[in-house]
Amino acid sequence: MNLTLRIWRQQSATAPGRFVSYRINDVTPEMSFLEMLDMLNEDLINRQEPPVAFEHDCREGICGSCGFLVNGVAHGGQRGTTVCQLAMRFFNDGDTLTLEPWRARAFPVIRDLIVNRSAFDRIIQAGGFITAPTGSAPDANAVLVPKEDADTAFDAAACIGCGACVAACPNASAMLFTSAKVTHLNSLPQGQPQRDQRTLSMVAEMRNEVFGSCTNHGECEAVCPKQIPIEFIGKLNRDLIRALWHRRREPLKIPSVVQLPCAEDAHEHFHDDIRPSQEVARRQLQEDVPAPLPVGSPEHAGTSR
Ligand code: FES
Repeated sequence: MNLTLRIWRQQSATAPGRFVSYRINDVTPEMSFLEMLDMLNEDLINRQEPPVAFEHDCREGICGSCGFLVNGVAHGGQRGTTVCQLAMRFFNDGDTLTLEPWRARAFPVIRDLIVNRSAFDRIIQAGGFITAPTGSAPDANAVLVPKEDADTAFDAAACIGCGACVAACPNASAMLFTSAKVTHLNSLPQGQPQRDQRTLSMVAEMRNEVFGSCTNHGECEAVCPKQIPIEFIGKLNRDLIRALWHRRREPLKIPSVVQLPCAEDAHEHFHDDIRPSQEVARRQLQEDVPAPLPVGSPEHAGTSR
């Protein structure tokens, strides 16, 4: 099959970019999309022209390195498929394919089809971890995890961080990515001790990285090669409300989060005359907040959400 490729060529983040057209012949239906680009690059190198820069690593849909827009659709539009798994049999002889990098302010172009996705790394650094000592592999069933929670965590952990969700969203929102990472750890007993801090920190970092906000378009779910469901965004919003409520009672010290004055502080500044005494406030707090359960116990896992 013979194709015309319109590819975004850009030397660097600061250089202006433009589409350049290339003809490519003898593409077979068995080739993957990246193999087709390899063929184009061999041809360009033979002609002493700079090859097209694109990112890849595993080429089997698990590392999240690859990704660009094909005819305006992230990863080419085949459901649950990364561009490295995309076969050329989905295209027709004579097609013109337009290839361009992810378009988002938080993902500046490095070169051609490669963008800088380190904003995702910084969101992970903000809270996508647990600090509990993991040691060696624990005995089976030492920490009981309800089946439903294990399935949710597993589904969320499938996110490969490719950035397609951001590229597809009209707001360039990273909510699906962040919600998957938050839900992965917040669903498990090992993730409970830092649940509130994790949620607040990762959401704060997401906002710092100038990603947009979710307005429920659902484009992210449609193009996600791992089919991360949009319901995880609902879980993230619920965890965020929970964390903000807890912070109101007991402010968390998180460097990246602006600590708004809690309601009690506001009383102190503006309504001293109607504020209950310290002792009354302390008793109310003790009555409202249940005693913490031991971390890792089944009761803790079952009641902490
Ligand atoms: Fe690893 Fe495509 S190269 S997911």
